[in-house]
Amino acid sequence: MSKELEKAISYYDKFSRYYDWLSPKRYYHKARNFAIQQLQLEEGTTVLNIPCGTGQNFEYFQKYLNGSGLIIGIDLSEGMLEKAKQKQSENNWNNIQLIKEDATQITPAWIKENVGKSIQVDAIFCDLGLSGFPEWEKVIDNLLSILSPKGKLVIMDWYIPKSTLRGAFIKWIGKGEVDRPIYQYLENQVANFTLNDTFNRGGVFVATGIKK
Ligand SMILES: C[S@@+](CC[C@H](N)C(=O)[O-])C[C@H]1O[C@@H](n2cnc3c(N)ncnc32)[C@H](O)[C@@H]1O
Repeated sequence: MSKELEKAISYYDKFSRYYDWLSPKRYYHKARNFAIQQLQLEEGTTVLNIPCGTGQNFEYFQKYLNGSGLIIGIDLSEGMLEKAKQKQSENNWNNIQLIKEDATQITPAWIKENVGKSIQVDAIFCDLGLSGFPEWEKVIDNLLSILSPKGKLVIMDWYIPKSTLRGAFIKWIGKGEVDRPIYQYLENQVANFTLNDTFNRGGVFVATGIKK
């Protein structure tokens, strides 16, 4: 692990205690709700969420899954995963598998080894992750490679290309970048690309696509 990534993960391990308080559900509710609608989840489907953080998405997924199917939650911070585990046990959600892993390692072979040989990933939600992940383009390519043929990849993240005070604050608190051309890259890798960049006063976008 690079020094930079180590620093970011140790930050999230500590930040996990305050994350749900400092980044409350209502702050991203509109974007999350819209993004998760785009996944087109149905009872019995498998959705992969990376980075799952403290599990803020789980209750949104369960609206469609009702405890069925499988939610694979991946994150590299033990502290964040601990909070996600808490939500899982408080709600008796038995359809969630939490795994500690670096986003750059998620490949079809990794899925077979860590989740199951016959698993089909019907949908992937990558929220507030690519702005911080190393090798983010490679992560997008890998995520597309594990997706089932008609499955959707949905990305929710920040995009503030001009240098602003708000951008600097989001960068500082999230330990990521806010000017990566994430959706522009996605557009070239997928079919049926869609974009909605109107969330959080135009700072947060939701982009979707299926495998080409
Ligand atoms: C801003 S939080 C977003 C969490 C969650 N998606 C949400 O919206 O609440 C960023 C997360 O990315 C995780 N993370 C950072 N680098 C990672 C990596 N290389 N692999 C996996 N997770 C990583 C952090 O541990 C943290 O939980």
